[in-house]
Amino acid sequence: MKRYARPGLLSLAALATSICLAPASPANAGVAAGWQPDTLREATPDGFVVGTAVAGGGHHEDMPYPDPFPNDRKYRHLVAKEFSSVSPENQMKWEFIHPEPDVYDFGPADAIVKFAAQHDQQVRGHTLMWHSQNPEWLEQGDYTPEELRTILRDHIKTVVGRYAGQIDQWDVANEIFDGSGNLRTSENIWIRELGPGIIADAFRWTHEADPDALLFFNDYGVESINAKSDAYYRLIQELKADGVPVDGFSVQGHLSTRYGFPGDLQANLERFDALGLETAVTELDVRMDLPNGAEPTPEQEAVQATYYQRFLQACLAVENCDSFTLWGFTDKYSWVPVFFPDQGSATVMTEEFEHKPAYDSLLETLDAARLARR
Ligand code: G3I
Repeated sequence: MKRYARPGLLSLAALATSICLAPASPANAGVAAGWQPDTLREATPDGFVVGTAVAGGGHHEDMPYPDPFPNDRKYRHLVAKEFSSVSPENQMKWEFIHPEPDVYDFGPADAIVKFAAQHDQQVRGHTLMWHSQNPEWLEQGDYTPEELRTILRDHIKTVVGRYAGQIDQWDVANEIFDGSGNLRTSENIWIRELGPGIIADAFRWTHEADPDALLFFNDYGVESINAKSDAYYRLIQELKADGVPVDGFSVQGHLSTRYGFPGDLQANLERFDALGLETAVTELDVRMDLPNGAEPTPEQEAVQATYYQRFLQACLAVENCDSFTLWGFTDKYSWVPVFFPDQGSATVMTEEFEHKPAYDSLLETLDAARLARR
């Protein structure tokens, strides 16, 4: 059973109007009188976590600011205050945590896991098997299949074992299918060199290293029922029939208002839920067109707020979708403008940490779910 009732859904048109005319806030959200939550985590219903990626590594290394998480005090304060789950944005990826064949760099990942424990937060581990952000020694190494198998098994045992009991969900396999639903047999070194059977082994090794962690397939472009999500649906059914310890399927949720909202998101999550899986939202952001450095208009921000709200509502409505993570919460550190020139403003706070309508829509929707559960 879902641990809380489905929240009352606000009319999206009404939400967009209210955002344009009078920014929504807990004070005008129309919920019960009395105590009002001030932060996302305060508004969150029991049994549900709201998370953020923890900024560091990756595109930040090319930016004119120091590594965000260790250095930006205001940012750290908000990570603790607003969120009940954290995901290392880059700090657990192979190129960061395993930079040389016999060298692991656990420092940045340790700091996140320690911070999470101090602030009573869950941790999502990201990621163990991916085609991207692998170190050169691995991608360019001239290893035999047996050696590669040993390298992957040792990596998983070492990294997952180190954080055993401290990581709630692991993205074991990230982005293994392309948009047509074909396995990335040339890009993904593991699948290319060892065949698709390595996917099951990665889940088994992760489970052996931490039997309590929930083990996920994670991808973008799988919000809807489409060729890629169908491919996951089939693969997971096969793996479960073989007794492979797969626990979850997660949608990243990198959206653009350029495209329509994936209206079948809830139906898609429900079909995975019906397989007995956990589902999760792991990397939500909603970018918009901002040509030539334009500022977002109130209308653009209102539309963005509806995308955030509808995504959250879909997850809240699905039995075992209990983890909802934003890929960053401030434009100050968003990956979006780095990858998509002329797009941006994808997160729920400005570069100065001011709340956008999208933030208010999440707060309001979480609080409605919290109150409905009482
Ligand atoms: O490795 C190259 C280096 O050789 C080159 O000199 C340098 C020059 O700019 O770039 C380096 O690559 C950077 C990479 O991180 C290194 O770690 C890219 O420019 C940089 O854009 C990249 O950013 C990260 C990106 O993943 C890589 O795919 C972002 O910080 C991170 O937010 C993003 O996160 C991913 C999730 O893990 C998976 N889902 C999609 C999501 C958004 O892309």
